[in-house]
Amino acid sequence: MTPDFREHLVRYGRDDYPEIIEKAHGCYVWDERGNKILDFTSGQMCATVGHNHPNIVAAIRKSCDSALHLFSGMIPRSVVDLSKALAKIVPKPLSKSLFVNTGSESNEAAIKMAKLYTGGFEVVALGGSWHGVTGHAGSVSYASDRKGYGPGMPGTYVIPEPNAYRCPIKHCRDKCDRTCMKVGFELHDMQSTGARAAVVAEPVISAGGVIVPPEGYFTALQEEAKKRGMLLIFDEAQTAFGRLGDWFASTLFKVTPDIMTVSKTLGGGIPLAATITTDEIEERCHQRGFAFYTSHVSDPLPSTVGLAVLETVEKEKLLERAREMGDYLAKSLRDLQSRHEEIGDVRGLGLLRGVELVKDRETREPYHELGALTTTRCLELGLSMNIRRRPERGSVWRIAPPLTVRREEIDLAMTIFDQALREMKDRVSGKIQPTLTTH
Ligand SMILES: Cc1ncc(COP(=O)(O)O)c(C=O)c1O
Repeated sequence: MTPDFREHLVRYGRDDYPEIIEKAHGCYVWDERGNKILDFTSGQMCATVGHNHPNIVAAIRKSCDSALHLFSGMIPRSVVDLSKALAKIVPKPLSKSLFVNTGSESNEAAIKMAKLYTGGFEVVALGGSWHGVTGHAGSVSYASDRKGYGPGMPGTYVIPEPNAYRCPIKHCRDKCDRTCMKVGFELHDMQSTGARAAVVAEPVISAGGVIVPPEGYFTALQEEAKKRGMLLIFDEAQTAFGRLGDWFASTLFKVTPDIMTVSKTLGGGIPLAATITTDEIEERCHQRGFAFYTSHVSDPLPSTVGLAVLETVEKEKLLERAREMGDYLAKSLRDLQSRHEEIGDVRGLGLLRGVELVKDRETREPYHELGALTTTRCLELGLSMNIRRRPERGSVWRIAPPLTVRREEIDLAMTIFDQALREMKDRVSGKIQPTLTTH
């Protein structure tokens, strides 16, 4: 039943928390009833520096004293400084940034740039991808629900994703040999009109089940793109600024795309995104009339916050912390796997981890029912984790606490996760009713 407080709200998704949230701080959120919940989704994967970090709050205050919003053709100092700060850390020859608000927008801009630059319009994306909900971005998203909205943008194609645990072309098991990519491009070549523009990919396919492609995958993908005159776009919405233990997945995987988009983690909870490209691509796009004139392009408040996020990641050594805590989280999850037969796979990098539930480790039949019940029970016990349940792709929890997470908080999360799994397994098998213990 819909709680009263949603009476005048449009329902926009299915993962509804049943109480109103009052505040958020560090790795926790509190609801109006006073329940304290460990946030292992970092909000919507944005709060990598923790909720309401004092540096973010100070940056917002600073903007209140200077400027919040401007005419879109005016550039504030914070935008200049943020463009320079990014140019210093992105892999060369990436250099120029366009500052917008959401991940969807940053991908709209990237795809438009690729179309203008190449003169083509065809865009290839990976299965299980999520690049946003707007026109171009939604059209190249295959983990989102496309049904009921009619056709997407013309010229969008999907190739099977490199999921070694659940190979989409039923070819490999546990080790992807990139046949999926070969098959995907063969099919694309059959369908292509020849007017190609870009290949777009998340370096870790997150909403599609936290899939880390095998070594060498992106080098090969880039070669396939180049052969066909397509640009490579990396969507680093979730992977940029420390989540994987490096500044970017691009630096970690040593593959530099033609266009990189960053969003969620740049604003630390404030809507800020960027489309970053090379001088050469920017120049040609400009010559051809590139326009992306939104109401909040180059706004001062989000860019001031973006600078504070970068400074915080650096000062608090959050890349190192993500590696250290990521290893600890992975080890803790593997311990849990050794105690629960239903955990078929634990994967991921840094502080982005996936846990896949199966009924049987051999057949790998997804265990959706246990996934749903355990997620709800975790919330009751004070742990928020995001689960993706897709009939053909399995039930996978995405576990991604803020990079500031402490060992004790990981321990607490594992205690809750363990209890919830034990109780819900018993419940599914009809043994007992859950207890009301909270942590
Ligand atoms: C990889 C990736 N790209 C883009 C987006 C879209 O970002 P936004 O929701 O800010 O439009 C998301 C959102 O979940 C995402 O995970």
